[in-house]
Amino acid sequence: MKILVVGNSARAHIIVEMLKKSRHEPEIFAFMSAKNPGIIKVACDYEIGKLDCVDAIVEFAKSAEVDFAFISPELPLSAGVVDGLASIGVSSVGPVKELADLECSKSFVRELMEEYDLPGGPQFKVFGSLEGVREFIESLSDTGYVLKPDGLTGGKGVKVSGEHVNSMEDALDYCREVIAVHGRIVIEEKFVGEEFSLQSFVDGKTVCDMPAVQDHKRAFNGDTGPNTGGMGSYSGARGLPFLKQKDVSDAHAITVAVMNAMFEKYGKYYKGIMYGGFIATKDGVKLIEYNARMGDPEAMNVLTVLKTDLVDICRGIIDGTLSSVDVEFDAKATVCKYIVPSGYPDNPRSGDTVDVSGVPQGAKVYFASVNEMEGKFIMSSSRALALVGVADTISDAEKVVEEGCRQVRGDVRYRSDIGTDALVEKRVLHMREVRGGAK
Ligand code: GLY
Repeated sequence: MKILVVGNSARAHIIVEMLKKSRHEPEIFAFMSAKNPGIIKVACDYEIGKLDCVDAIVEFAKSAEVDFAFISPELPLSAGVVDGLASIGVSSVGPVKELADLECSKSFVRELMEEYDLPGGPQFKVFGSLEGVREFIESLSDTGYVLKPDGLTGGKGVKVSGEHVNSMEDALDYCREVIAVHGRIVIEEKFVGEEFSLQSFVDGKTVCDMPAVQDHKRAFNGDTGPNTGGMGSYSGARGLPFLKQKDVSDAHAITVAVMNAMFEKYGKYYKGIMYGGFIATKDGVKLIEYNARMGDPEAMNVLTVLKTDLVDICRGIIDGTLSSVDVEFDAKATVCKYIVPSGYPDNPRSGDTVDVSGVPQGAKVYFASVNEMEGKFIMSSSRALALVGVADTISDAEKVVEEGCRQVRGDVRYRSDIGTDALVEKRVLHMREVRGGAK
């Protein structure tokens, strides 16, 4: 069996590792925008190219004669790589371009949910000019508002009132900027509560959830500083401590309803990952957004505890037989922390070495924006390494990963608070306070 993996982040590294572990003993072919030392070590061949260059990816898949592809990031999905591969008879874990709009266009899911009258969405409007923007923002004065570019922004384009935008003039300036670049902006009601990621394997008919994860996007301890691609994340052995079972089943129901609505509207099965960013509020679970791929760092939390053979899951997605695959996870807690170059994200250093040789065995290391040269790992300006701890409790998993992070040598930093008892307790208390206001 030959499998193509497209991508070179830490998420792609763990996907490659999990596929390689399969009882089917596949050969891995990797298409990357930059070398990832972890992937190169495992892959039998690789190609470097632009991740939105569909022709180059298709050409590589054809020459390698791969059986199927796993598309890790959103960029190739938005460029139509799944359609391109299908044209040469290669199926993918990842949606076709039209359905990848689930992530690539922020208006797609809002308009779909409105059309099919699905619960869990906010009040929203989509604007292609500034006309009516001021009035709509004023109408959301009780809840606050969220500004979302209607396109891909690497997770850094969303602005929330009271956090990133503090006046009507700032909001209008940002809307003007976004409309000039993306053509449209989505403005939504702001929700108050605790966010969680629920990633699901989806074959267009069946939804298999992975454990819920909480991600931390802010750069610094205490959830302060600018947004990043994600500084770390945690999951519990039996769910997230601030969630009720019903929160997760309600989020699952939204994913099922959206998957069915996509089939009804477009007549195509969504095949791949539906990663819902949800928020538990006093009025129940609401959908913030969907991504059409696994989360990064969330992929590290869930795949480290996946018991089922990932190749069997991929085949279930592709063949539409996911309902017959027993998707199981170890009942273990996980904490993932990203090591980033100092200055990240605003003024990151680039070209420094990072040394992981002292990291104890217990902490798993996944490579992100790191290159290997003459036996040394060199960081570029983005997130460098994802370290993961697994244990019976979040608290113990945090201790494992924290010890690993302390042993990384180089001009780096990370968030020491992710997964600590203090931070998790803060989430539990916040959620209790939010629910206290329940009607
Ligand atoms: N965890 C954020 C993302 O993957 O988009």
